[in-house]
This record gives sequence, C-alpha cells and structure tokens, in this order.
Amino acid sequence: MADPDLLRTALVDVVGERGVLVPGVHDDRLATYAADWRGAYAGRPALVVLPSTTDEVAAVLRACAAHGAAVVPQGGNTGLCGGAVPDASGTQVVVSTDRLRAVRDLDVANRTLTVEAGVVLADAQAAAGAAGLLLPLTMGSQGRCTVGGVVATNAGGTGVLRYGSTRALVLGLEVVLPDGRVWDGLRGLRKDNTGYDLKQLFVGAEGTLGVVTAVVLALQPAVRRRVGLWVGLDSLAAAVGLLGTAREVAGERVTAFEVMSAPSRAMVLDHVPGTRDPLGPEHPWCGLVELGDTAPDADVEALAERLLTAAAERDQLVDAVVATGPQLDALWALREGISEAQNHEGPSLKHDVSVALGSMADYVAACDAGLARELPGVRVVAYGHVGDGNLHHNLSKPPGTDDADFLALAPRLTEVLYAQVAAHGGSISAEHGLGTAKRDAAAAYKSDVELDLMRAVKRAIDPDGRMNPGKVLAAS
Ligand code: FAD
Ligand code: MLT
Ligand code: ZN
Repeated sequence: MADPDLLRTALVDVVGERGVLVPGVHDDRLATYAADWRGAYAGRPALVVLPSTTDEVAAVLRACAAHGAAVVPQGGNTGLCGGAVPDASGTQVVVSTDRLRAVRDLDVANRTLTVEAGVVLADAQAAAGAAGLLLPLTMGSQGRCTVGGVVATNAGGTGVLRYGSTRALVLGLEVVLPDGRVWDGLRGLRKDNTGYDLKQLFVGAEGTLGVVTAVVLALQPAVRRRVGLWVGLDSLAAAVGLLGTAREVAGERVTAFEVMSAPSRAMVLDHVPGTRDPLGPEHPWCGLVELGDTAPDADVEALAERLLTAAAERDQLVDAVVATGPQLDALWALREGISEAQNHEGPSLKHDVSVALGSMADYVAACDAGLARELPGVRVVAYGHVGDGNLHHNLSKPPGTDDADFLALAPRLTEVLYAQVAAHGGSISAEHGLGTAKRDAAAAYKSDVELDLMRAVKRAIDPDGRMNPGKVLAAS
C-alpha cells in the first residue's frame, strides 16, 4: 500500500471526517469492525470507511485502487468463517455498509423489494411484511446481518427447504467493481437469458469480486397460517423418514424442517433464559417441523394431525407436541438459541456440512466413532437444517478440558469430519461460505479444473487481487 496518510486524505475527501475511522483515534469504534462477533477472527484495519451512497462506494474503491490498498467489505459482521475481518497487516481498508440503509423500492405487483446492501435483514423482512408479502430469508442472525452480507455469502437459514437459498431470491444487483466502476444490474426480472448470469457470480463471492451496494429480492405471498410440530425422534434416519412423510402429506406447505441433538438442546436450556424443551431431554434428536399456508382460512392444525398420524403409523416418531402462536415462537427460540448457547461452553469448532439425505445417518455414525477415538468425551453439538441435508456439526470440549488442549486437537477432529464428508460425497460448507476458515480445506477437495476456473473469474474481475484478499481463494 502507498502512503496511508494520502489514502486517508483521499477517503476523507469522499466521505468526510466522520466517515473514516482511524486507528489510534477511534479505537473504541474500530474494535467492532476488527473482530467478528464471537472473537474467533480478529485483524487490524488500516482504516474503516463508511460510505452512504453507491457513488461514495465507487469513489472509495477508486481511491483504494489508486493507492494500491486492499478492500474488505463488511456488513453486519455476523459471518461465521472470518470473511468480513481484515488481516493482521494493518494495510487493509474495511468498507462498511452501515450507512447504506435505504429501502429503494417495493413493487407489490412485481413482488420485488429493492434495498441497499446495509439494510438489516429483519428490516427488509418488515418492509415486505408491511405490504402483505414475505421475504423468505430467515436465520438466527437476522436482527444484525445485512442484505449485502446475506447475498455475499449466499446465506441459507430455515426457509431454504421451501424457498431456496439467497441465490434463488436475488433477481438483480448493483455492484461496485474493484476499479470503482458501477455495474447496474438492478433488474427485477424473473426471466432474462441475455448471456452469462453475472449477478450469480457475486452471490456467494464473499466480497472477493466487488462491493454489492443494492439488491432486488423476489418476494413471496405471506404465510397466514402456521403450525409447528416438535417431535421426539430416536434416530436421524427417522428424521429423514419423517421429512419424506411430511412432504407426502403437506407438499409445499412444509416450510421448515430443523433437527436438534440432545446436547445442543441441553446447552440452550443451560444458557438461554426462558427456554424449555416440551419433550424433555430423553430423545436423542428432536425435530421442529413447520407447516404454513397462505390462505387465511387454511386448517393447518388438521394438516399437522394428518402428518402425525401418518408418521406414527410408520414408526417415525416417539412423541410430539403441536404448537401455534407464542408456543411456536418459543420453540424457534430454542432452535435459534443454539449458536449463542454454545459460545458459553468455551471455544466451539463450527462445521457446516451437507450430505445427501439418504447418507445423513451413516455419515453421523461414522463421525461419532472417529471423534470418540480422537477425543473421548468430545461434545457433538449437531443440529440444523436437516431438511436441506445440512447439519451444523459443531464440537465443544469435554467438561474440564483446557481450551488450549482442545484447540490443539481441532485439526484432527476436523479431519475426521471432513474425511467422512468426502466419503459420503458431501460439502464442507453448506451455507456459511469459506472465508479464511475453510478456504484451504475446500481447495483440498476441489479438482484442479474447478480451482482454475475460480481463479480465472477472480483474475478477470479483480486483476490486482485487492478485493478481500485471502478469502475464498488463497491470495496469489
Ligand atoms: P458479514 O459477516 O459482514 O460478511 C460476510 C461476508 O460477506 C464477508 O466475506 C464480507 O466481506 C462479505 N460482504 C458483506 N457485505 C458485503 C457487501 N455489501 N458486498 C460484498 N461483500 C460483502 N448463515 C446462514 O447461511 N444460515 C444460518 O442459518 C445462519 N445463522 C446464523 C445464526 C447466528 C446466530 C449467527 C451469528 C450467524 C448465522 N449465520 C447463518 C451466518 C451469517 O449471519 C450469515 O452468513 C450472514 O449472511 C452474514 O451477513 P453479514 O451482513 O453479517 O455479513
Ligand atoms: C444456525 O443455523 O443456527 C447457524 O447457521 C449455525 C451456527 O451458528 O453455527
Ligand atoms: Zn444454519
């Protein structure tokens, strides 16, 4: 990077003194941009810049290009792979979307919402909801993560089973390229076969190709009637069977299918006040199945009863309760509390894997055996979007173990899981992305052809390698 003072002056010219945070001057405010929410990844920004319009983002990126500075885009900083955090060199400029908060358009007839990248996901949901429509992106971090971050990570969450990942909901994008040019691809079209689908390159690119400044999202009809089933299951195979039954009985009205192991539920009850497991701790797995209908008079309770009867006839569940309204919200709080609860139990090794549904039970059994060999007593905090074949296969240390001893074993424990993911034809990152955390492991499982293509895309759009270097792909 060229002279940091000259870069700072150039950035202040664009966004004003209040839009540039400087180490040694604004250290309190800088801290939240320098490390992720868990404190698992920390770096040292050269500067943090807070542009408030697309033109300002473009001018910021032009200034960074002129001064040879690397750029780290950052939204809500809730990512789980270290992608939004600068490295330790003190030379990277964090470009935050905190001030890109406008809702630009809500087109009810077209069922689309156009928002700037820094809009918090829950606010985007609320904007759609106010018009009687649904933005079906739902996840535990929705009160803090941003639409730009969700797009950049192709986030999943609990609505994927019914509505698809973020990728399926993005109709258009506005992106500032590394050289400061603006690509205005803000089209709200559901059909557009005019060449390469460029927007999809930026979805899931984790900020390595440009800064997303605005997004057109496809909306859905609002779900007017919801019911949840909290079911006790004796195995993951039973969960997969139940999913098949739910789809037979309720079709598209299965809006979520989440599964939680006993250790993951116990952690929430220990650490998140006010949570309760209505079936108690004895079931090795519990499922939360949600059924929803857009018709205001739909009898979803009757649908739930039909599902329970069919599943009981097939021996797919041991026990069940049906919940609506606040009781259903309380079950979701139990599910969504796992991430936070696990943080109270020392360092957590987060894994986010997917395998084909038919392989899920075998995969977990093979991992359990391998993990027990490496570290007897390791706590397997497995839970997640099993309806999508996606398990958060997290690990916590055995009680009484030193953090450092546990972390020293992390590579071997991770290798046990990844070897089984590979053996079962799965993915080591189902929805969280790669960041720095999974970059090298992902590369080890990709073919040379796949890696060459990825590097070629990166070179074509970011020839100087200044956009979020070292994330997704090793810096060249
Ligand atoms: P950040 O963390 O700020 O950034 C994430 C990545 O995107 C970084 O690489 C960053 O450089 C890049 N980026 C951010 N904004 C932009 C932009 N405007 N342009 C270009 N690049 C950008 N994820 C799931 O997929 N499913 C879940 O169910 C889920 N649940 C979660 C629950 C909890 C409690 C927490 C803490 C996290 C969860 N996450 C989940 C992970 C995380 O919330 C998502 O990945 C989210 O999409 C990140 O959004 P963010 O705004 O915080 O992005
Ligand atoms: C979740 O689904 O709760 C998150 O994606 C997983 C996590 O925070 O580890
Ligand atoms: Zn998840």
